[in-house]
Amino acid sequence: MARKRQRMRGVMGLQWPLVLLLFCPHVHTEPITLGIAVGTAAVLTGYLSYPRFYCYWSECCEPELPLNQTALLADLRQKFFGQHLAQEVIYRAVLGFMNNKNPKKPLALSLHGWTGTGKNFVSKIISDNIYKQGFNSKFVHLFVATHHFPHDSKVQQYKDQLHMWIRGNVTLCPRNLFIFDEMDKMQPGLIDAIKPFLDYYDNIDGVSYRNSIFVFLSNAGGDLITRKVLEFWKAGKQREDLQLKDMESVISLGVFNNQNSGFWHSSLIDKNLIDFFVPFLPLEYRHVKQCVIAEMQHRRIPIDMELVEKVTREMTYYPKEEKLFSDKGCKTVSAKLDFYL
Ligand SMILES: *[C@@H]1O[C@H](CO)[C@@H](O)[C@H](O)[C@H]1NC(C)=O
Ligand SMILES: *[C@@H]1O[C@H](CO)[C@@H](O)[C@H](O)[C@H]1NC(C)=O
Repeated sequence: MARKRQRMRGVMGLQWPLVLLLFCPHVHTEPITLGIAVGTAAVLTGYLSYPRFYCYWSECCEPELPLNQTALLADLRQKFFGQHLAQEVIYRAVLGFMNNKNPKKPLALSLHGWTGTGKNFVSKIISDNIYKQGFNSKFVHLFVATHHFPHDSKVQQYKDQLHMWIRGNVTLCPRNLFIFDEMDKMQPGLIDAIKPFLDYYDNIDGVSYRNSIFVFLSNAGGDLITRKVLEFWKAGKQREDLQLKDMESVISLGVFNNQNSGFWHSSLIDKNLIDFFVPFLPLEYRHVKQCVIAEMQHRRIPIDMELVEKVTREMTYYPKEEKLFSDKGCKTVSAKLDFYL
């Protein structure tokens, strides 16, 4: 910090002759002053193109920045509850992709599950681990179907726009993260517009997309995932013993059979452009409780177990008889906590 400030002060000091030159029109007739000014400008330009100085002011594109494996694992384990399958898949997928110096295609993850199960949250964890500015990075782009592409009649316009944005951003920096939320509400045509970017091309018109990451979030398959977890529970088995292979068939059925899912006509799946389907399981009472505790820790308020139980009980649980899963997952925990504080 101190060093950085010193370097800045050095630069500020050098600016004065240049400023004087700009504000005193008669000065530039004097060769010596002009010489100093030119020299100053050269030094300044040198400083400004010096990456660390520049990156202090404006976020830089750093595609080769290594991923901190320990930090990613810790985030997935400690901040993210009840999702042993998603934890494992996302960790392996992101790590493998980031460590691959020459990926054949961009990474495409499709996250499935009900609201509140952590799909958005895990997208934040991924961005926090890839970019210094995390979710606020200019290299992270979130598109919400109903917000960004609401009108069916404007599909062509959205398609062109999306195409231009993805291309423009990847031209500026090869490592971008594109998150598409509410895929189940997205017009099929739009998804097809993204398709060429996900494919195994070296480059498209001179731009290579192979270092970017695409994350698709959707509720499609959520009901089938729930049914499977419930079945498992009724059979007296541990939720943590659920394996990815138990879920894979469930998700693909859900996605293919749900004609409204947006994926339906899509050639993303036909052409195997999605690298990983990630199931998000419905959250139980104990997981909601963990969310409440995490939220209290985040706000630096002392953990009061009575309050934790109270907030957790406030959530509604389904199915009607078993009352096993929270219908909004952990989504409203923060608001419920506000109410009691
Ligand atoms: C990686 O993350 C861990 C845990 O957050 C931290 O202790 C460690 O210093 C980090 N390593 C590097 C090289 O930044
Ligand atoms: C990058 O994407 C954003 C949307 O996230 C868009 O507004 C912006 O114009 C794009 N930049 C370029 C250079 O295309």
